[in-house]
Amino acid sequence: MHENNFYTEKLKQKQAILAPMAGYTDAPFRYLANSYGSAWAVTEMVSAKALVNGNLQGIEIAAAYKNEKDLVIQIYGREPELVAEAGQILFEKYQPKALDLNMGCPVKKIISKGMGSSLMQEPELAAKIVNSLVNKVNIPISVKMRLTYKDKAAASIIQGLEDAGASLIAIHARTAEQKYTGKANWQEIVKLSKLVKIPIVGSGDITSQAEFENYSKQGLGIMIARASLGKPWIFASLRGAAEPDKKEIAKICFKHAVLHCAWYQNIGLNEKQSMQKFRSKLLAYLVFLEDKSELRHIDSLDNLRQFINSYFNLEIQESDINTKPMQREL
Ligand SMILES: Cc1cc2nc3c(=O)[nH]c(=O)nc-3n(C[C@H](O)[C@H](O)[C@H](O)COP(=O)(O)O)c2cc1C
Repeated sequence: MHENNFYTEKLKQKQAILAPMAGYTDAPFRYLANSYGSAWAVTEMVSAKALVNGNLQGIEIAAAYKNEKDLVIQIYGREPELVAEAGQILFEKYQPKALDLNMGCPVKKIISKGMGSSLMQEPELAAKIVNSLVNKVNIPISVKMRLTYKDKAAASIIQGLEDAGASLIAIHARTAEQKYTGKANWQEIVKLSKLVKIPIVGSGDITSQAEFENYSKQGLGIMIARASLGKPWIFASLRGAAEPDKKEIAKICFKHAVLHCAWYQNIGLNEKQSMQKFRSKLLAYLVFLEDKSELRHIDSLDNLRQFINSYFNLEIQESDINTKPMQREL
């Protein structure tokens, strides 16, 4: 294991972790999750190949705020040298606290190229990738994988990864074949966690404080993905904080929208395009509205502000939200 114990130190605080989500865990959302106490927050997955080939889109996805707190960048790829090189580029550019290898993505486009969850069928190669990252980049390297049909195979995979130098393994408690169907099988995660010395983080279907505490007591770290969408305060709620009321939710939603537009402006999106990209996030925040038809017409921050102020009887101003401390690293 790496001598730098970012992961083990963080896990001692018993806080949930923002799981990587393509299309969602960008810098503004990671910032919000961090502000409600997520132990760390993982970026969307970044293509090692795109990065090494100088494709800027890969960098855009990983792009982080200056001095972003507790940043973990997830990489996908299958060539050990290339992934290690990508890791080095990311490390130099963003100084993440750790790098995470994606071994769980079940999407056809990724697995047909032997990456993501298909690496679980090539455990020796997966271990080689981890080892080459460990040797190249001087920060902890983790892996995020899934369950396999036979827990014996999962057992040997995680032992191989530990031997290769992984500092932590996160496991989505479903098989790749299941994608997102069925229930997450946490019993398997508990069993697997007893087979290695490095920390195991479980992921899948956690929404309540009771579940969080139950698995936390069993020594697992807990990742939250979908339950955080439109609810970044869940990281505080899981530790007993009161849920925000609807007015407060509307304010958090607006703050997210302002951060989002400021962020995407830097990569050339105008406010209208940024607000289009924000639509699914807006719906997630305001899911409780009976009539969501008005949300369809919101295409600027000012529209959103006016809608929120009139619907929730608030007086929010855009200038209430301070985006200055959050500068882009690019
Ligand atoms: C929209 C979306 C995007 C995701 N993207 C990634 C990803 O890029 N990398 C990854 O390892 N897992 C990804 N996941 C899986 C999640 O990190 C998590 O393991 C899974 O959703 C189960 O947790 P949940 O029940 O808390 O959502 C994604 C999940 C969703 C819903």
